[in-house]
Amino acid sequence: MGTSRMFRIFVVLGSAFMILLIIIYWDDVGAAHLYLHTPVSPGPKVPHPPPQPRPHTTRTPSFLSDIDAFVNQFLEPGTGEPTDTVPVDSSNQSEKSEERYVPRREWKIHLTPVAAELRERQEKRRRLLQEVCANDSVSFPGKNRSFDDIPNKELDHLIVDDRHGIIYCYVPKVACSNWKRIMIVLSESLQQDGAPQRDPLAIPRDLVHNSSMHFTFNKFWKRYGKFAKHLMKVKLKKYTKFLFVRDPFVRLISAYRNKFEMRNEDFYRRFAQVMLRRYANQPTPPASVDEAFALGARPSFSHFTQYLLDPQTEKDMPFNEHWRQVYRLCHPCQIQYDFVGHLETAEEDAEHLLRLLRVDNVVEFPTSQRNLTASSWETDWFGPVPVEARRQLYKLYEPDFRLFGYDRPESILNE
Ligand SMILES: *[C@@H]1O[C@H](CO)[C@@H](O)[C@H](O)[C@H]1NC(C)=O
Ligand SMILES: *[C@@H]1O[C@H](CO)[C@@H](O)[C@H](O)[C@H]1NC(C)=O
Ligand SMILES: *[C@@H]1O[C@H](CO)[C@@H](O)[C@H](O)[C@H]1NC(C)=O
Ligand SMILES: *[C@@H]1O[C@H](CO)[C@@H](O)[C@H](O)[C@H]1NC(C)=O
Ligand SMILES: *[C@@H]1O[C@H](CO)[C@@H](O)[C@H](O)[C@H]1NC(C)=O
Repeated sequence: MGTSRMFRIFVVLGSAFMILLIIIYWDDVGAAHLYLHTPVSPGPKVPHPPPQPRPHTTRTPSFLSDIDAFVNQFLEPGTGEPTDTVPVDSSNQSEKSEERYVPRREWKIHLTPVAAELRERQEKRRRLLQEVCANDSVSFPGKNRSFDDIPNKELDHLIVDDRHGIIYCYVPKVACSNWKRIMIVLSESLQQDGAPQRDPLAIPRDLVHNSSMHFTFNKFWKRYGKFAKHLMKVKLKKYTKFLFVRDPFVRLISAYRNKFEMRNEDFYRRFAQVMLRRYANQPTPPASVDEAFALGARPSFSHFTQYLLDPQTEKDMPFNEHWRQVYRLCHPCQIQYDFVGHLETAEEDAEHLLRLLRVDNVVEFPTSQRNLTASSWETDWFGPVPVEARRQLYKLYEPDFRLFGYDRPESILNE
């Protein structure tokens, strides 16, 4: 008994040592490798020159699958569509395996299942995403690329919560502050008097949008190096992924009202001045937002649409996130979202989602006190915009309309 035990310890220690060696070795190779590759760009794949001779390449798959197994331990809570019957005794099971890190499972026991109507609604939205992604007559930039080809900086809207196995793609102007608050509460990334902050509304506004509060996919590279993409894919497979969207045109109106009808120095300098200069015949627009408001020099909604349609805009820099298309923020053809919320049905969807995530006894979705932009206003807002511009604008946002099931706004486009 004594010797066989010793032998087993040896084997374990030996394997650990080997793995350590491989990791160190991989670091060296990886670092060198970085300089050999040109950055990945979307588009046709040029066959790479044969890689540098790399001994041990045959070990790669088994090593990666080791990582998989290792990572899987942390991703236990088999998320996805939960069954209606919640296992009651699971809290006790998880206590037995207390030693390692166990993600929280703060389940609430529901006596009634989620309404069939809500489940069918999700089923329909998910199916639509798949159909539109598979439909070759709908095309938009980046649609055909693989997840691996998405540049790191385009993954900055995916917030990960490892505690509960949740990934949220935030879309600005779609209740994103409230969902970000919920992600902060769930991931316990904000401490208040030594305890995690539990009240979403108690989180100060500037912290909600401070990127240091959120662990996003684009930060994986820094933390996990060359395993980043692999780890992302594992998490995308295991975690519950959701996003919230709204009518694309109403989102534009909301962005305009929020950024240009209110005094916002930053947006005034970065965008309003450009619009005034280019489309409002003001070669020297007022220097500050206060001056501009005092003089009534504000870009109109028409100027804003001109700005969006101007080819020069995207040449200067990609669309700001407040008006960037959802398909560019969230990559719905590369990421299979489990839940697609609509702002138009926000309260029902939020309740359903929190139940699906099994966190509905930890957080509540804060109800909004602010007035939402109503879609019935669309016609009013688009009144001064020439019909031709409206049609071009529709083309620009058509993928979002199609992917998320918003009807073509006929009354605006046919006049
Ligand atoms: C867990 O189960 C054990 C028996 O297996 C029991 O003694 C203990 O009270 C249970 N704990 C909880 C929290 O239910
Ligand atoms: C694909 O999209 C076109 C319109 O762009 C539509 O007419 C067609 O029915 C769609 N095909 C499928 C299979 O949904
Ligand atoms: C994507 O691939 C389909 C065929 O597989 C092709 O018809 C379409 O033009 C491609 N779209 C883009 C944007 O490259
Ligand atoms: C974000 O928070 C970090 C620390 O919590 C702070 O150092 C930084 O200044 C904040 N950034 C902004 C833009 O407020
Ligand atoms: C919201 O709209 C109502 C009328 O629809 C109005 O009376 C109220 O002042 C608005 N609130 C805000 C904060 O704009």
